[in-house]
Formats: sequence, structure tokens, C-alpha cells
Amino acid sequence: MPTIAGPSSSPRKHIVAARSENIGGIRSAEVNTPRKRKLRSDSAAEIAATVVSTPMKWKSPRRCAVSSPRTLKEEVKEDSNEKLESPVISAVKNQFDCLDVKSKWNPRDDDQMKAVKEALHVSKAPSTVVCRENEQKRVLEFVKGCMEEKKAGSLYICGCPGTGKSLSMEKVRQQAEDWAKQEGLPCPETVSVNCTSLTKTTDIFSKILGEIETGKKANGSSSPLQQLQILFSQKQKSSSSKMMLIIADEMDYLITRDRGVLHELFMLTTLPFSRCILIGVANAIDLADRFLPKLKSLNCKPLVVTFRAYSMEQILRILQERLLALPFVAFQSKALELCARKVSAASGDMRKALCVCRSALEILEIEVRGSTDQEPQIPIPENQMVKMDHMVAALAKTFKSPVVDTIQSLPQHQQIIVCSAAKAFRGSKKDRTIAELNKLYIEICKSSTITPAGITEFINMCTVLNDQGILKLSHARDDKLKRVSLRVDEADITFALKEIRFFRNCLL
Ligand SMILES: Nc1ncnc2c1ncn2[C@@H]1O[C@H](COP(=O)(O)OP(=O)(O)OP(=O)(O)O)[C@@H](O)[C@H]1O
Ligand SMILES: [Mg+2]
Repeated sequence: MPTIAGPSSSPRKHIVAARSENIGGIRSAEVNTPRKRKLRSDSAAEIAATVVSTPMKWKSPRRCAVSSPRTLKEEVKEDSNEKLESPVISAVKNQFDCLDVKSKWNPRDDDQMKAVKEALHVSKAPSTVVCRENEQKRVLEFVKGCMEEKKAGSLYICGCPGTGKSLSMEKVRQQAEDWAKQEGLPCPETVSVNCTSLTKTTDIFSKILGEIETGKKANGSSSPLQQLQILFSQKQKSSSSKMMLIIADEMDYLITRDRGVLHELFMLTTLPFSRCILIGVANAIDLADRFLPKLKSLNCKPLVVTFRAYSMEQILRILQERLLALPFVAFQSKALELCARKVSAASGDMRKALCVCRSALEILEIEVRGSTDQEPQIPIPENQMVKMDHMVAALAKTFKSPVVDTIQSLPQHQQIIVCSAAKAFRGSKKDRTIAELNKLYIEICKSSTITPAGITEFINMCTVLNDQGILKLSHARDDKLKRVSLRVDEADITFALKEIRFFRNCLL
């Protein structure tokens, strides 16, 4: 007899219960229900974190456009026929395809596999940051200007996640130091802080003070902010008058209710003897307008440099640049193009593009290992690269719709109800009564010798599916006469359940 969660169970409990259930004719091995993911954007990070042990930044939940699995499949067809004739793409592609001839790529070689994974790891800083030359130039010019004139100033850098802001700031810091040396100027004192690492927002001031005061005793009676204010309000001795480059990454973490810390930080650049070149980095485009209006009246509104989401061509170029450093070719160019196209359409987040590629590589790795385990004597076809199908699977894994996740996490009897509903509402029928849906559910159960749940349990399960936003139940005095309609796309149901043969047959 199947285990059906009782009416008092919360929808969440139903999901949890689904993990260990093995009911009727559905074998748990076949069910293969994936774990419910907590945060959509974290899933990609999880994929990456499982492969290489290098530490990875744990991102806060990010919004990201979702591509339905249906559209992905349709697009793959288009992608495989479509010709990309952008000059940038063809130039890099030609270079890439030339390497293809010479490549000795062997996916069974652990060292080679490790090298590709590392090249695609987010924590691997590339030697050159391509596609961000203009933004870096603007920031560097600003820093140079301040250093030449010994003038304080502030700049705000904004842009969506994974658009190369932090990476570019690290490059700008190096470039500014190199330039100062070249010009015979004193090297700026640099404070580079990721504000998420601060225990409390005001710690930003101790960090800045710590950089200036190295070797000196801190003044215990006044706060670090007060000490900085005093310091930048008095004329400095020439020996300690180096400019100070402050890079406050993830600056939105400094937002307090009264915006006090942010204001004070920017205000440091307005003090008469300030030497602060402040660069604040965050995602919000309008942070400077929303949170710092006071600064405008005080004449210290920062300059703003926006990092736009990467385009398809830029993502492709970055991926290829990173892979060109390797002496072999592990990815088919079409597969990389598909990744770039999908990621740019969804969010333009480079972190995501790298994670998708690494995930596709893992899929190839599993495939290659599987074939060697089964038939060790059969050689793997030469040059087995990451191809379109690997990339399609990786993209589907990363951009899977939350509806698909929810359906896959349901207990099996609820999945049968969802499957019955998908069948019931095919064609023109928009709604049916609970009794009609129950009839279909019983038919499906019996077709596979599964014992169906009783009508009360069935109604309870429909209520849970209503709460989950999968079904919609109308009000009626008699439960059996309640009308049921489907709130999710049939394509999502088919995609979610396609791995289970039982459901695949049902939905034929
Ligand atoms: N132009 C580029 N060239 C090579 N790799 C890049 C480029 N831009 C981004 N990346 C890769 O993507 C990762 C994420 O970039 P970065 O950390 O700079 O994003 P960000 O804009 O600071 O994002 P967030 O707003 O989430 O902090 C980098 O660690 C790097 O591996
Ligand atoms: Mg960043």
C-alpha cells in the first residue's frame, strides 16, 4: 500500500516524504528524483563547488531569467542549423577550429580533464580580462586623474552579477600601482574590502584606518570613523600624504537603515585634506540615486560606471579565450556558442556560463567513464569532445524551471495526479471535476498495478497540489464537484517526469 501523506501534512512535508518513497510499480531507482534546490542561482555554484576543491564565493540569491526546457530543445534545433556570422565570432572560431586539427584531447586523461576544469573555474583569474577594456579604462583614468592632482574622489560601479566588476577592479588596482611606479608617483595605499566579509558595517572604517595607521598605536578614545575624519581634516606631513585607493566591493552590504555608514564613507572624500579615492561596487544601478541623494547636495555624488550584462559574442569570446590557453580542444565550437547564446539571453552572467560549461564537461566525463566501465576493451571514439547534447543537458540542469523542480520533488501519488491532469486537460478541456480526475487517476494506477489512494486522500492530495500552485481547485460544497484546472504548462510536466518510464508511457 502506498504511503500517502495525511491531510494535515504541510506541502513541504509532502516534498520531504517523496525522497524515500517506493510505491506500487515505480521503482525508486527509476524515479531518480533530484534534490530540491534551495536557491536557483546557487545551484550553478554547487555544480562548480563539487568539482574542484578551490574555494568559491557563495553568492546571495540572484534573479535570473528562466528558460523553459521546451524552448531550449526547440532552440537547439535552430542553433545547430544557424550560422553565426559575427566577425568576432568567426575570427575566434577560426582560431579555435585550427587548434582542433592539432588537438590530442583525451577525456579519459585525468590531468587533461583537471586542466580544463581549472581553466573554466570562476576562481581562476584570467591573465587578461577581455571584453571589459572600456570599463577598466574609464575607472583607471579616474584613478590616475585623482592621483596626479592629489585630489580625493568617488566612483560607483554597478552591474548585474557575473559581469566582471570584481575581476576588473582587481586589474585596475594592479594597473594603478604599475602606472604610479612608472610615473614616479608614490604608490597608493590600497584597501580592497569585500563588504560581505565585515562583521559589522562600521568595520569598514577600522579597515581603512588599519591601512593608514600600520605600525602606529590606535587612539582608543575616538572611533575609527572619527579618527579618519580628523586625519582628513588636517594638513598631512608630506611623508604620510600618499593617496589612498579604497575599493569597497559588494558595497550594498553597508546599507543601514539610516544609510549612515554609506554617507560617512563617501563623505570622507569631501574632507579638506582627504586623500581617498573611493570605488564602491554593487549590483544596483540606482544605488547612488536611491541611497545617496544627500551626497548630491554635498557635492560628492560619485561618478557612475555601469557594467552591462555580457552579450552572446562577449561570453563566447571569454570562454574561448580561457580555453585557448590549453594545448587541446575539449569543446565543440557550436556547443560553446549554444551556451553563450542561452546564458546571454537569460542573464549575461559569466559565472553561470562557466558553470554550465563545467557541468557539460562533467556530463562527458560520466559518459566516458560509463562506457569504459561497461566495455573496457571497446575504445572510445577519438576526439570525444563536449558536444551539443552535453551542453543541452548542462543548460537544462542549470536553467531548469522551478515548476519542473517542484513536480520532480512531489511524492509519487501526487505525480500520478499531475500526470492524470496533464492527460485530462490535453486539447480543449479547461477544467474537470475532482471526480472525473479521480477516475483518470485510478485508471493510470491500475494500468501499472499500483493501489490507488481512496477518494478522501485523493482530495487531500489535490488540495496540496492547489497550495503548490500546480492545480487550481474551485469552491464547491461537495468536494467531488469541485472543478480542477491545471496551472502549469503541460510541457513542464512532461519534461519533469520524462526520466521515469512509467510516466513517459502514461504521457505518450
Ligand atoms: N571578462 C572576463 N574574462 C574572463 N573571465 C571573466 C570575465 N568576466 C567575468 N569572468 C569570470 O566570471 C567570474 C565572475 O566575475 P566577477 O566576480 O567579476 O563578477 P561581478 O560582476 O563582480 O559579480 P557580482 O555582482 O556577483 O559580484 C570571475 O571570477 C571570472 O572567472
Ligand atoms: Mg563581484
